[in-house]
Amino acid sequence: MPAIMEPNQQRVSTASHTLIFCAKSPLNEQHLQNLLTQEDKDGRFNCDEDKQKMDQGRRFFVNYNSNTPQNQLDWEAKQLYIALGQLLFAAAAIGVDSTAMEGFDKEKMDEALDLKHQGLRSILVVTLGYRSVDDSNASRPKSRLPKEQIFTQL
Ligand SMILES: Cc1cc2nc3c(=O)[nH]c(=O)nc-3n(C[C@H](O)[C@H](O)[C@H](O)COP(=O)(O)O)c2cc1C
Repeated sequence: MPAIMEPNQQRVSTASHTLIFCAKSPLNEQHLQNLLTQEDKDGRFNCDEDKQKMDQGRRFFVNYNSNTPQNQLDWEAKQLYIALGQLLFAAAAIGVDSTAMEGFDKEKMDEALDLKHQGLRSILVVTLGYRSVDDSNASRPKSRLPKEQIFTQL
């Protein structure tokens, strides 16, 4: 696992499952068509006009966030972090432990899994499983900034 940074190696090697969150790069025509077809199949549109509107709306936001390939990737990454939040929350809800990880070399990961040839770029790694008895993070208290520092009441 040369792509995984040293402190994270053991987390990955002992995890039940390791997920690599990837973004499509570039976000291409085929993907846009694929999404629209799926939405159509799932009954999202009452008429062809609704379908065209959805397609146009999505293309607007894709274009709006795609000034450069890096901008597009950053925009996609933000959306992957939404999925990350859901995954961490859902795992905890069913008693599965998880660790989100940015501690890996993306270039090496992309190369190791041949991601670029599949039109993908790695963004995040998440391990899932049950914590070990000597998991030092599990026994430490949680640390959270007080709400007065987090929220501004107007
Ligand atoms: C975006 C992100 C990246 C993280 N990267 C790593 C990492 O590379 N290695 C690691 O051990 N933990 C990583 N963590 C996990 C944190 O170090 C820490 O274990 C976790 O946020 C503690 O959460 P808790 O306070 O809810 O228990 C990451 C967490 C987040 C949200």
